[in-house]
Amino acid sequence: MSLIQLLYVSAARADLQERDFADILTSARNNNPRLGVTGMLLFVNGTFLQVIEGPHMHMDNFFRRISADPRHSAVQCLVREEISARHFPDRSLGFRQIEVSDAQGARVFALTQSALRNRLGASDVEALSSLVDSFRGVNDANFANKASA
Ligand SMILES: Cc1cc2nc3c(=O)[nH]c(=O)nc-3n(C[C@H](O)[C@H](O)[C@H](O)COP(=O)(O)O)c2cc1C
Repeated sequence: MSLIQLLYVSAARADLQERDFADILTSARNNNPRLGVTGMLLFVNGTFLQVIEGPHMHMDNFFRRISADPRHSAVQCLVREEISARHFPDRSLGFRQIEVSDAQGARVFALTQSALRNRLGASDVEALSSLVDSFRGVNDANFANKASA
């Protein structure tokens, strides 16, 4: 089966609440397994960074649907490529909120800001991709649970 991976960044709507994150994760956890989609969503200082991977035939529609979501804007796809194996095989959608106050968070934030301004070179895209990959296997912050409590 041919698998596609997409990586994009976007600007979160400024007034998003914890409830909104919880709703997004609920949608993802309901829909992604059905479509064979796995991935990771990072949120850093008002910016989303998402990797989604799944069957070729679903991914473009799926990405179009997410792109049209009013909870974010300025959606910029940075990577769309065929992969031979999933990077996030175990997660319908992992979620992590990262802080700019730690070194890794600051690096992710700097790169996503450049991406939103269209200033990323190919090596920056690779760096961003491997930063996202470094969250493979990290447990979700219990943010979503807290939000739905
Ligand atoms: C940053 C972001 C990431 C999202 N990721 C997903 C996702 O991985 N899967 C998903 O089904 N919906 C995702 N959504 C929500 C979709 O845009 C859409 O609201 C949802 O798929 C609608 O499905 P539902 O009616 O089953 O909730 C995301 C939204 C945003 C803003």
